[in-house]
Amino acid sequence: MARVLLVFGGQSAEHEVSCGSAVSVLRALETAGHRVIPVGIDREGAWHLADPSLDPLRAEGRPVSLLVPDGVLSVGGQTVGFDVVFPVLHGPRGEDGTLQGMLEMSDIPYVGCGVGASAVTMDKDMTKRLVAAAGIPTAPWRTIRRREWDADANAVTEAVAHGLHYPLFVKPVAQGSSIGIARVEDAAQLMSAVSGAFRYDTRVLVEQGIDGREIEVAVLDGPRASLPGEVVLQDGWYTYEAKYADDTSQFITPADLSEADTKTVRSMAEAAFELFDLSGLARIDFFLDRSTRKFFLNEVNTMPGFTSISGFPKMWLATGMTYDELCSGLVEAGIRRHEERSRLAIR
Ligand SMILES: Nc1ncnc2c1ncn2[C@@H]1O[C@H](COP(=O)(O)OP(=O)(O)O)[C@@H](O)[C@H]1O
Ligand SMILES: [Mg+2]
Repeated sequence: MARVLLVFGGQSAEHEVSCGSAVSVLRALETAGHRVIPVGIDREGAWHLADPSLDPLRAEGRPVSLLVPDGVLSVGGQTVGFDVVFPVLHGPRGEDGTLQGMLEMSDIPYVGCGVGASAVTMDKDMTKRLVAAAGIPTAPWRTIRRREWDADANAVTEAVAHGLHYPLFVKPVAQGSSIGIARVEDAAQLMSAVSGAFRYDTRVLVEQGIDGREIEVAVLDGPRASLPGEVVLQDGWYTYEAKYADDTSQFITPADLSEADTKTVRSMAEAAFELFDLSGLARIDFFLDRSTRKFFLNEVNTMPGFTSISGFPKMWLATGMTYDELCSGLVEAGIRRHEERSRLAIR
């Protein structure tokens, strides 16, 4: 039994997604006998002791603060101790190493990837550079910095489109849930999509569109890959609406793949887990190109959607694990990783 500080909400565009994931995790950990202290970060960045009975959880309630470097929670002048943090936060300021860095400063055990792995995999440009350097296929891309764009948007658009073939995908380097992403078919659309993506970041990725099936793999420490899952769309691409707001997408587990393809994509996912030195969990997303039948790594998510019907848990369910076992296992892995690292020499 552990006292788990469940941190959710956050100042990212995926705030609501996190509130939905957090309630499932909370119920599962309680069922497994853990004591859960839910703390919601609101959109302004303030921390609250949340009401555990709500579904989805809401980032409101009595104000609390995490005392750094003491590593305790302060609630109305009282301090509350805990053993481990489960950051069910998606996107910037949660999944990107920032919260993890704060926890490291207080020597607090936490679930999931460390600072470096979280930061690098949140950044789609860094991710693709490392993936490409390791010889893992990824869609060809260019990255535009705001400075270059501001200097001469027309010249940059022309240079970027050269050597890539429409349709292209335009993405802010560090977002999630398809926020700020656009599919474009010509130079005019490209101009407006890049300028739109700069609302979210100072670097924007322009990527070759792949006509492929969307295959995902859930990975745990080991690395141990689940059976793959597949996002099946009625049409178009996997937009925010298709992810959360409408019924036009389905998640199929296990994905209908040949034995050889299943084996290939699982071992690519395990290789990526090691490449980025991930820990705890990750969902690694691929495209299976319809014409070449080759897998391309699209992205790495270190805190994937975690409701009981999200892809990550579903893939583990299909591989023979229950949702409760999954959540408890992650808490134990977080504590174990901290113990292991505590034994390292500091001088
Ligand atoms: N290169 C690409 N080719 C085809 N579709 C893409 C490509 N990149 C992104 N997409 C579509 O956009 C969706 C979101 O892109 P992704 O890079 O996964 O961003 P996010 O981190 O927001 O999930 C994908 O699931 C896919 O449907
Ligand atoms: Mg994605």
